[in-house]
Amino acid sequence: MIDIHCHLLPGIDDGSKSLDDSLAMARHAVNAGIKKIVATPHITPGRYDNSLKTIQPVFENLKASIIAENIPLEISFAAELRFDPIIMDLVNNDELPILGEYEGERLILLEFPHSHIPPGSEELIQWLADRGVRILIAHPERNRSVLGDIEKITPLVKSGCLLQITGGSLTGVFNDAARQCGVELLKRGWVSIIASDAHNLHARCPELEPARKEAEKIVGEEASLEMVFGRPEKISKSHFQNHQS
Ligand SMILES: [Fe+2]
Repeated sequence: MIDIHCHLLPGIDDGSKSLDDSLAMARHAVNAGIKKIVATPHITPGRYDNSLKTIQPVFENLKASIIAENIPLEISFAAELRFDPIIMDLVNNDELPILGEYEGERLILLEFPHSHIPPGSEELIQWLADRGVRILIAHPERNRSVLGDIEKITPLVKSGCLLQITGGSLTGVFNDAARQCGVELLKRGWVSIIASDAHNLHARCPELEPARKEAEKIVGEEASLEMVFGRPEKISKSHFQNHQS
């Protein structure tokens, strides 16, 4: 399986706290059947002021340690971008962290505030679409606005956004409302990706299989496998090309 939303890199957001934590998470992921991870630290202006330039050395250090420790996990990195006008600067400066490719377009992982879907979302999505950038929305099933009325996400789905739900939502790590919302999104056929959004080895672990099994009950085995293997593999292919030959 391939996890394309995971806070594996140490010390740069609210995910892993140390290199040892990251290595423990990497070992846990491997034991849980995950072969590749695209690490996605937050870029949240004013809180986690990360950029491709600041993430790169942290990534390289962890990658070297994973190789030194003989952990059979391939890693790459992008970011989880908070909805913010800074995204337009990143596009204009060619500094956008790309999660991968989808239908010939660049794909980014976008997070809304947990409280709501901000006004201007559809305009930003259109602005990005005009520049060949497609959006994977992180965990809409945990957004209070969507929890209150699932139709709040409908216009974004109609405008071409993909949805990523977090495995823990389906396995009850958060609350029943998030689980029910995730189930409803699955029933509607709107979920493209299940990711771990792992932050640690306590409540939010790098695991996908328990959630995939829950999804299988709703969408069937084949579609559930697409969410943790087929589709993330296609999306992240360019990240791992150098390692596949
Ligand atoms: Fe995240």
